[in-house]
Amino acid sequence: MRTRLVVGNWKMNFTEAEATAAVQSFIKMVSAKSTVDVVVCPPATCIHSVRELVKDTHVKVGAQDVFWEDAGAFTGRISPRMLDDAGVTHCIVGHSETRGRFGKLEVPASTVSTFVETNETINLKLKALLFHALIPILCVGETTEERKEGFTEAVIREQLAGALAGIDASELYFFVVAYEPVWAIGTGNTCEPEEAGRVCRFVSSVLAELLDADVAENIRVLYGGSVRAANAGDLFQQDGIDGGLVGGASLDPLEFSRIVMSA
Ligand code: PGA
Repeated sequence: MRTRLVVGNWKMNFTEAEATAAVQSFIKMVSAKSTVDVVVCPPATCIHSVRELVKDTHVKVGAQDVFWEDAGAFTGRISPRMLDDAGVTHCIVGHSETRGRFGKLEVPASTVSTFVETNETINLKLKALLFHALIPILCVGETTEERKEGFTEAVIREQLAGALAGIDASELYFFVVAYEPVWAIGTGNTCEPEEAGRVCRFVSSVLAELLDADVAENIRVLYGGSVRAANAGDLFQQDGIDGGLVGGASLDPLEFSRIVMSA
């Protein structure tokens, strides 16, 4: 069995003092559960202090996004080289929010294009992360409309194929994929556990086709989208789900600890 993994995505939340308080409050409980891998992804401004707080535990620090160049005139961007230097080990790529696909529209519709990224930019980011031996957590998932029209599998296949184009399977040993139905993110509409398990198994089967069966066998597939302590147990019991990518609930230290405990 693949080692369970729980990733907390704090998104654009927490000042340094709030981040410190949150980590101090969950670190004892979470680090006691050393059989589950745990990654927290703070905003870039808190990476340094969070890394200091978790450095003697098995908890790792991830980033929420990255640019694909190492350095240059790219105002506002952060490179994989900088993340590596900051002690980051993982990085979320292709989250539906950075793709400009929101389950619950948090921004005016006229500004959505500000967030858009493509399978091509995601592919560049994956290659850049792998070059620096950072572990990508690639998010894939369908919108409500795509699901209604029966396109769930086609959308996911296209996202995986686009993201992985030209990447050798041998580089993907530690790679992680998160199935995050867009309609479930931040909405409280969790995907039914059986359905989440079915789609996660589908993700693994596409990875086996695109890469090779042995590599795909090692790639952890997480479920994300309104994971809470109350539903985590049911989700993580499903065949094909290796853990969770947790947004809102990762901001509450007790809730996050409970989710880690149920993994
Ligand atoms: P949520 O977010 O848990 O708040 O639904 C999940 C995610 O965006 O990764």
